[in-house]
Amino acid sequence: MSFARLGEHDGGRLARRPACRFVVLWECSTMKHHALPNRSLWFLLAASASQTLLTLVGWIAFTWANLLNPISSRADFPMNIPAASEHIDTHSRGRPWEIAVNHLALDLTADFQAKRLQGEATLTLKVAPDVPKETHLYLDVKGLDIIGVAAVGPVGEPECPLSYRLDGNDPILGSALIVTPPEGDPARFATTRVKITYRTTPEAGALQWLEPVQTAGGRHPFLFSQSQAIQARTWLPLQDSPGARLTFEAILRVPPELTALMAAQRLQPRPDDPPGLFRFRLDQSIPPYLIALAVGDLAFAPLGPRCGVFAEPSVLPKAAAEFDEIEAMIAAVEARFGPYRWGRHDILVLPPSFPFGGMENPCLTFATPTILAGDKSLVALICHELAHSWSGNLVTHATWRDFWLNEGFTVYLERRILEQLYGPERRDMEAVLGYESLKQALKDLPEADQRLYIDLTGRDPDDGLTEVPYEKGALLLTRLEQAFGRERFDRFLKDYFDHFAFQSIRTADFVDWTQTRLFPLDPQAAATIDLDAWLNQPGLPADAPTPRSNRFEAVVQVADQFARGQLPAEALPVANWTTHEWIHFLESLSDRPNASLVADLERVHHLFHQGNAEIRQRFLMLALRSDPATAWPHVERFLGSVGRRKFLMPLYNELIKTEEGRRRAEAIFEKAKAGYHPIAVDSIARKLAQAAGQVPPANVP
Ligand code: BES
Ligand code: ZN
Repeated sequence: MSFARLGEHDGGRLARRPACRFVVLWECSTMKHHALPNRSLWFLLAASASQTLLTLVGWIAFTWANLLNPISSRADFPMNIPAASEHIDTHSRGRPWEIAVNHLALDLTADFQAKRLQGEATLTLKVAPDVPKETHLYLDVKGLDIIGVAAVGPVGEPECPLSYRLDGNDPILGSALIVTPPEGDPARFATTRVKITYRTTPEAGALQWLEPVQTAGGRHPFLFSQSQAIQARTWLPLQDSPGARLTFEAILRVPPELTALMAAQRLQPRPDDPPGLFRFRLDQSIPPYLIALAVGDLAFAPLGPRCGVFAEPSVLPKAAAEFDEIEAMIAAVEARFGPYRWGRHDILVLPPSFPFGGMENPCLTFATPTILAGDKSLVALICHELAHSWSGNLVTHATWRDFWLNEGFTVYLERRILEQLYGPERRDMEAVLGYESLKQALKDLPEADQRLYIDLTGRDPDDGLTEVPYEKGALLLTRLEQAFGRERFDRFLKDYFDHFAFQSIRTADFVDWTQTRLFPLDPQAAATIDLDAWLNQPGLPADAPTPRSNRFEAVVQVADQFARGQLPAEALPVANWTTHEWIHFLESLSDRPNASLVADLERVHHLFHQGNAEIRQRFLMLALRSDPATAWPHVERFLGSVGRRKFLMPLYNELIKTEEGRRRAEAIFEKAKAGYHPIAVDSIARKLAQAAGQVPPANVP
């Protein structure tokens, strides 16, 4: 059945039925809560001559509200939604500048057999003043089965079906779900909630449904979501734009032996709640890409007054040991950049198929188990996701063009935390690794994709997920810090987080803020910064800082000697090497592939079986280049056990460089893909199709 046919109702006719009168009555009963009533709404009431009493009450309220607030201007509506012209998010069909979703109430049941979430999303809306009569509510949906849409009033009142239709079916963006207002009057949306009954499909791009064998415990299934960048629309009917902030509350109903989590405040169950029912709410407004859930056999270990870790029971002790410095990390940011505003900060360790290293879901960072190295050497990722609680979750990019505002600021803050907790040597090593990945990426990326302020129109915003927003963005902030001095720059950043707290902003807002709040502090320094070059030009400006690490300089010398055969594998000074030195060593060898050196490294240091996934992945890359036949089985084992896209993509990319390797990549992918998240499946499938000559390369990162 097509979506369009599912959606055909005559909302106008239904809305005129007497049962729908509650809409009008309810507006009156709630008017005190709407200090800024929409003028047209009240005029409409007045026009309803038969309801003299209502008209009188409405008129009084109208006059009263306008006396208090004579100009019902756009500035007071809705909190964070800019005017349409500034908003333009080319990756959403939502029109929040007309009607904005302010709050979502979810009630979803997880059906593990059918691999579906089913239930209701009830939206509280805010309507801009003076919207034209024909204005409809626009939501983003992708692959959702819409069962019905209704207007809901106060408890006990009958619901009122609303007419809706689905428009377009873009392979990247999905469709617009267009809902007709009750009685054809968009102002009604201000006082009527809209309930959408729906279910997800097993293919939902955000969701991964894992079989018990794909979990650490092997006994229970697992479900988790990944909404960033634009996957929220595959499980939630919303305005899926980072500029369309909202609060939410949720009920999740799951099999009673499982625990459900959301990235939100966890509420106590009510006395008559059945087992398997979990309640959540988030009062801070967030962009939709931060809405997240996970369901599985999960246990919890507290790590401090406001921090803890969730993981499958067998993984929990290792996770708790790895992350026990999380409170100190929070304190490090708070001391400089203002309070942590999200209540708790827990970490959820997911099964290995999680497609990212980490995801900064509010109150509950989602993390790959591949960072459990046993020596805390990979906790930069935890610092990174924590830093997003300021840069990203508190101050958010308004469109995917402005993504660097999230990631560049976050990498900068991440390194500040590392420096505070582990010292400048550690910070420098991380910064050099980042810088070198950036240099490598700049060699391969088209010029248009080397800009911080990138145009992603018509493309998947995931295409913007390169080293550029992360490392070039962080270099810009480092450059500003160096030019204006740390103290001044820190105060500037703290004010930035305060000023734009709980708002979604554009790159232009950053420029404006920098030019008015930072540049005047030292005009001479300001004259040396070319913001346009940083934001709009490819490559790196000539004045970009170059991170250096003394420890790495020693490692490079060792790598050179080793590559020239002057230093045997046994004599490598690895005893006091950190993970970062190992990574740098292996990366330094990557352009000098050599089968016998790889064999030596394996014989002495057993790197094919290395427990640290970052080191193992670098060794696999080197081995694939040096001696593919030896590497293949190890690569296959790794690709079949890990779903983190950052590890997978370079390996698949390396494999497809030869015809034999490409055929193996196809075979490995066929076997492994059931264990990958749809986001990773999509990226690899595109890459392999391109390698097989089936699609033009344009869209493949
Ligand atoms: N928010 C990102 C992950 C992301 C970005 C997912 C865009 C989808 C679209 C997260 O904070 C992140 O950057 N993760 C990195 C961690 C790293 C840079 C320390 C990752 O997963 O590798
Ligand atoms: Zn990030």
